[in-house]
Amino acid sequence: MSAQIIDGKALSRHLRRRFRERVGALAAHGVQPGLAVILVGDNPASRLYVANKVKACEECGVASFLHACSADITEAALLGLIARLNAERTVHGVLVQLPLPPHIDMRRVLEAIAVEKDVDGFHLYNVGGLVVGNTIFPPCTPYGVQLLLETTGIEVAGKNVVVVGASNIVGKPMALMLLHKEATVTVCHAKTRDLAQHTILADILIVAAGKPGLIVAQMVKHGAIVIDVGINRLPDGRIVGDVDFDGVRDKASWISPVPGGVGPMTVTMLIENTLRSAERCLE
Ligand code: GUN
Repeated sequence: MSAQIIDGKALSRHLRRRFRERVGALAAHGVQPGLAVILVGDNPASRLYVANKVKACEECGVASFLHACSADITEAALLGLIARLNAERTVHGVLVQLPLPPHIDMRRVLEAIAVEKDVDGFHLYNVGGLVVGNTIFPPCTPYGVQLLLETTGIEVAGKNVVVVGASNIVGKPMALMLLHKEATVTVCHAKTRDLAQHTILADILIVAAGKPGLIVAQMVKHGAIVIDVGINRLPDGRIVGDVDFDGVRDKASWISPVPGGVGPMTVTMLIENTLRSAERCLE
């Protein structure tokens, strides 16, 4: 058996076409959705992610405002910029690309973003909303994974879901979202003993550990759905996920590739959250 492919590129294309209709409806009310992106320093990966976000905005008719700040910007100056963007009517979403340099208190920065413009969903208020199952802006990567899972047509309720990785950006919010969908959720992390003992029980396995080749076929249950959130650049320049795709695809029923799986969905859900923010202004 070879797994069916969960095609994030195709789903993204489909969603982005629909976004253009929503942008048209907003234009009829004189509103163009706008996203402000703050990039601090010149981390190459962050620059690439930010470039992809700006490109997606252009593709969907969303205005983007890129603020590229030098790595030695003071925390006070960064907070001042966020305060200005919070007050700016043409901006519906404010995003600070992570990671930030060590002299800046990340939590203080994220908490400075207006809750109603927090399209990344990282503000504590929105994190709390996620815990009780009522958030305006679900974090983009787990939100994208949830939509990818829906394309398989498989009901999540009652399934054993194993999430590998417990980050604030992916693993923890992912676990909460699937808990609200009534899955039985196990979260594994760097200190988990005998990872395979957990992953082998997963009907749905979501891997966000940032370790190429972490999940091999013997760790996967026959017929499992496997979603690979990892994006790793190998020394030879190739981009791979955390899952040994070629081995695992013969065991899984569905599998998401890297690239072309979760990656495009993360940016697409950022646009979804930005559109929702702009639409909320008309309510
Ligand atoms: N760095 C890695 N992933 C993300 C993300 O989803 N949002 C932001 N703002 N920074 C990130």
